[in-house]
Amino acid sequence: MAAAQSGIFSEGTVAHYALEFDVAPGAESGSLSNAIKQARTGAAAASGINVVTAFSGPAWERLGGTAPDGLRPFEKIGDAPGPVAAATQRDVLFWLHGAAHDDVFDAALAVGGAMAPVAKPALDQRGFVYHDSRDLTGFVDGSANPKGDARQDAALIADGPGTGGAFVLTQQWMHDLESFNAMDVSEQEGVIGRTKADSIELEGDAMPPDSHVSRTDVKIDGVAMKIYRRSFPYGSVGAKGLYFLSFACDIARFDVQLQRMFGVSSDGLHDRLTEFSTAVTGSYWFAPSEGDLAAVLK
Ligand code: HEM
Repeated sequence: MAAAQSGIFSEGTVAHYALEFDVAPGAESGSLSNAIKQARTGAAAASGINVVTAFSGPAWERLGGTAPDGLRPFEKIGDAPGPVAAATQRDVLFWLHGAAHDDVFDAALAVGGAMAPVAKPALDQRGFVYHDSRDLTGFVDGSANPKGDARQDAALIADGPGTGGAFVLTQQWMHDLESFNAMDVSEQEGVIGRTKADSIELEGDAMPPDSHVSRTDVKIDGVAMKIYRRSFPYGSVGAKGLYFLSFACDIARFDVQLQRMFGVSSDGLHDRLTEFSTAVTGSYWFAPSEGDLAAVLK
């Protein structure tokens, strides 16, 4: 299989940055391609930075690439008064991560500068690892993530156009921590589906059907709908939450989990986590393999 962008699987970094761009309608494909090339080179020049670049279908095709089967713009899910996932599909995503916030910030400045002539940043979000990889709710995030080679199996497109690349889902979630923290710990554990201190999955009757784990741990025809998550917390004392960032071999894996979270699957249940956090952005992307990216940015 073609080699994936290595930054997808590089783990253990504590400093993160996401930049989502809207490309100017009049930008020529040659200028766009040059800007992205320069952005990637500039970002990689900062010390020890992982650079992952992903595209909406139209942006990738504008550069001359072939989009994988099934790639489409993210659409709103759910209806008020139930939980709603906002759709804010953008054109180009850069995810930068490394060991130090200052180096990652230098990389973000390089990307911002290189992209300025052709695109506007619509999301510009610095993030961090919180304690031992916890979400700001205090729960460990990533416990059930695939490990070793299972990461590639979950994340990478195995055949057809885009082989070695990945579908990507990003959503900026804003937490209402006051409400979450007002619950006692055992109720919080019922919302997530794991214990808070040690991240042990609840079992049997202790696991509510509307916990986050119950809504996202899904099998279809015996196949576990595994995805590979790389989300990171962001924010300040005022506004804070999780930048959800995840990779999958098939876009349908995201669809099925989101439908079950937002109350539009056949059982009508929604994920209780959506009562304490709101998805204010949402985009689907394609992160091409290194080879496909190099061929387009030549
Ligand atoms: C506010 C946003 C979110 C927060 C705070 C959050 C947090 C968590 C936590 C604490 C866990 C349990 C530990 C773990 O296995 O990682 C978890 C599991 C999981 N989450 Fe989320 N998550 C969020 C959004 C999402 C979204 C949008 C999806 C899918 C589209 C998702 C998919 C999953 C999956 C697949 C698991 C593992 C389930 C299993 O197999 O046990 N999460 N999440």
